[in-house]
Amino acid sequence: MEVLVLAAGLGTRMRSSKPKILHKLFDKTIIDYVIETANSLNPEKVFIVVNPDVPEVLEHLKNYELDIIFQEEPKGTAHAVSVAIPYLKSENILIINGDTPLIREDTIFKFIDIFEREKIDLGILSFYPEREHSYGRILRDTEGRIIKILEATEIKEYQNLRESNSGVYLIKRYLLDFVQEIKENPRKKEFYFTDIVEILSQRGYKIQAYPIATEEELIGINNRNELSIAMAYLRDRFVKSFMEKGVTFYDPKSVWLSPLVKIGQDTIIYPGVWLEGNTTIGSNCVIYSSVRIKNSIVEDNVEIKDCTVVENSYIKSGSKIGPFAHIRPETVIGKNCRIGNFVEVKKSTIGDGTKAAHLSYIGDAEVGSNVNVGAGTITCNYDGKKKNKTVIEDDVFVGSDTQLIAPVKIGKGAYIGAGSTITKDVPSDALAISRTPQKNIEGWAKRRRQKS
Ligand code: UD1
Ligand code: CA
Repeated sequence: MEVLVLAAGLGTRMRSSKPKILHKLFDKTIIDYVIETANSLNPEKVFIVVNPDVPEVLEHLKNYELDIIFQEEPKGTAHAVSVAIPYLKSENILIINGDTPLIREDTIFKFIDIFEREKIDLGILSFYPEREHSYGRILRDTEGRIIKILEATEIKEYQNLRESNSGVYLIKRYLLDFVQEIKENPRKKEFYFTDIVEILSQRGYKIQAYPIATEEELIGINNRNELSIAMAYLRDRFVKSFMEKGVTFYDPKSVWLSPLVKIGQDTIIYPGVWLEGNTTIGSNCVIYSSVRIKNSIVEDNVEIKDCTVVENSYIKSGSKIGPFAHIRPETVIGKNCRIGNFVEVKKSTIGDGTKAAHLSYIGDAEVGSNVNVGAGTITCNYDGKKKNKTVIEDDVFVGSDTQLIAPVKIGKGAYIGAGSTITKDVPSDALAISRTPQKNIEGWAKRRRQKS
């Protein structure tokens, strides 16, 4: 078998400057899902028909080993198939619309199985949609034989036909030559591949449609509404599989999950959580509301409190992050740390048991273990030209409202008095303090009141 993916349409109903098949369902584009499913079937070859004038699509397809076929002008699905005919060599051809990303591999295998068992000439994967839609409908005669597919614009007198065409077909290759007999649709000025059904049916070929899946797999994405429905289907699928693995979701409909995400047992996900890219969350974690985690690893027993953002970082077990923390790329937070309210950490490593509980900026820093970073501590990493490094060794106590002017190093066990501006290295076990001594002027306020 060879697979032929049709993806040269204009996608005008999306109303987008971006090609339809490059719109994303979470972290992957529509066409990524289709190609991955096609490859997973292990066919002789996967062909994709695309429009040669859409460079973004050609660029995107470089990620795959595929046979690309150009349809110079999008003159309809039958025309798309006809430009591919000279390249097709296998006995059976599986045709998939490029905008049908959610179909499961198992369903296609089942479809192939029946097609072969029942010795069918043209098989159609059909389904019964439950919402208003614009799919083609399958028309059968009184004995149940398929005689035609009617497009949404042509169904006036057949309003109650419900069985719909998913745009996934299995056909004997030699029958594709009948595509040449398809006439242009007078209204749409397009050649409809679906018209092959009537042609083959009149010649007595064996056509069968199999409603073996639902719209949850067979949705075709033509507009933004269908894009959002497809995303919800996919999200429900991910959530369900995690629930089966022992993850709790307090509001499954409100989360965003990338297909690459992994979540460990007994982790609890609050409403509005976004887990993007290649993110792994360990077991027994709690991810509170409105947290976004991207391309990161979170080990077991971590709590990420509300409104925290974590990107390209690593958080080790037992740590508590947030609320309102921002963990920026290339950060490693050790075990049992506490990174609290309004703390931003960038490109830094934080040792085990270290606490930065309030209002700090830690950037380009190497912080040891069991360090206490007082409220309002700032690493001044940027001198206007380049970024400089701050090193804070183990067991240091940094008093509140300290500025550490990098490059600077604070030795093990040192103390820094609150409100200090540290410009020079501090040796181990020293106390550094740099602030103007306090002056109290006795009776000052009383004299002021008397004057006025
Ligand atoms: C098509 C089917 C419809 C079916 C539905 C399932 C036809 C005429 N109708 O309708 O019966 O219910 O899919 O989702 O086939 N394409 C090309 N070249 C073209 C035109 C389209 O490659 O010239 C590609 C598109 O990129 C798309 C696929 O073919 O991936 C289907 O085209 P689309 O315009 O979306 O067809 P539908 O109206 O959805
Ligand atoms: Ca479509």
